[in-house]
Amino acid sequence: MGLGMGRARGSLAAACLRILLAAFCLVALICGGDGTSGAPYVTMRPHERVSSQPDSEALPQPLSDALNGPVEVPGGYGMSLTAHVGEHHVHASWTYVDGAPGLNTHVDSWLLGLLDAAAPAGNRYRPAMALNALQPGGQEMTVSAEPVQAAGTVIVVREKVKSSGTNGTGSVRSATVYVDTVSGELRSGAELLRPESVPGIQSRITGVPADIAAPSQQGPPVTDLLLSPSGELTVTAELPGRPGRQASMTMNARDTGAALSDYGRQVLGQLNAPAVPRPATAPALRHVNCDLVPCAALTYDDGPDARTTPQLLAILAERKAQATFFMTGSNTAANPSIAKQVADAGFAIGNHTFSHPYLTKLSIPAVKKEIERTDAAILSATGSTPTMMRPPYGAADAAVQGGVGKPLIIWAVDSLDWQSKNPAAFVPKVLKEITPGAVVLMHDVQPTTISGQQELISTLQGQGYQLVSVPQLFEGTPLTPGHVYRSRPARP
Ligand code: NI
Repeated sequence: MGLGMGRARGSLAAACLRILLAAFCLVALICGGDGTSGAPYVTMRPHERVSSQPDSEALPQPLSDALNGPVEVPGGYGMSLTAHVGEHHVHASWTYVDGAPGLNTHVDSWLLGLLDAAAPAGNRYRPAMALNALQPGGQEMTVSAEPVQAAGTVIVVREKVKSSGTNGTGSVRSATVYVDTVSGELRSGAELLRPESVPGIQSRITGVPADIAAPSQQGPPVTDLLLSPSGELTVTAELPGRPGRQASMTMNARDTGAALSDYGRQVLGQLNAPAVPRPATAPALRHVNCDLVPCAALTYDDGPDARTTPQLLAILAERKAQATFFMTGSNTAANPSIAKQVADAGFAIGNHTFSHPYLTKLSIPAVKKEIERTDAAILSATGSTPTMMRPPYGAADAAVQGGVGKPLIIWAVDSLDWQSKNPAAFVPKVLKEITPGAVVLMHDVQPTTISGQQELISTLQGQGYQLVSVPQLFEGTPLTPGHVYRSRPARP
């Protein structure tokens, strides 16, 4: 496959150009082990031109597929982001895998590291930089982290950064990481190799004769390694002295075997094993990183309602938006099948008391009774007990906070939808006041609220907002019983 195809400068001597072109697309053919050093002996066969097609003999089909693009992983779900970060216009795309938290956390910290590095000096990346960022401008940077292999307990993710400079120059860097979805262990591609076999492989990747490379230059760091199930190893690395320019080579299975570490042999075994199933997470609890993407949590109170709640569910499903429903016990008891429909669709449900009183006007035993009766109604309808609550009118004092026994989820943006009963009033109000991390208050029992949801949701998504459930919004920041929450705190 063609790698690191930058524009050759006219100033290069013809012979040098020929060597560099060859280096961009090297396929190494293995002639046999030399029997003394332990490292395989390799001869190179340079291509005459830069080609996007792998050598059909040297590269077996399954591996070429893996090199050419992402694979579907059970439980995988794609994310993307466009952001203006400092001088950079960043497009990021990546895949989370449900039930593989080690992988998801790794991808998050890799992306946040890149975005922080792109931010102006003294600043960190903020999700607000990803709002209304569709217009290009500045230096284009494309980053991706996508699974390229998945078998046994192993998922292989290739991380890639492509930058294009203002003068037509460009660079690409890539690395592979290996994740064990059962143990959670995460290793770099370099760990597939015995340390002593690395220098030999490094020197073979570039194909640049030693006399034109600076004597001080080490071999390129070996970070992008892919094993085929039949044991061929393809190594891609940066050319020495040519930052951002890559070359790759493939070794046959026999010689790869001699270079593999114990870990590499374990991975090879896993690549030949059937994929191990992972338990599925409810959609409202699936991993989203709200320090990375601009999130908002739409919340709907006072239902469920037999007419309006199913209408809202249809809109949310169509827009692929998550949301949270704070149900009253009385309406849940009156419409248990609607509450079950909300739960079965994967949305988050909170406790909004039984009879919607001002809790600050009740005795603490009466507060507890409001909560317990509602828990019982929701449990009976949906099979689950809510882990969070919202006090009616947002009314809570220290005594109420101590009495409810759950985290209190208030809001950062009050739509006042119940008051205006007019989408032309509450939709602009929400759009004006919303910021990344906000909890937004609405009421699914109001027909006029439902009328405004298509416009509100599509506008927010068009701006770059990821609409998440309350548990997703606060992921990584524990929700403590008796504490009040209105929005996700920004990364320090
Ligand atoms: Ni209410």
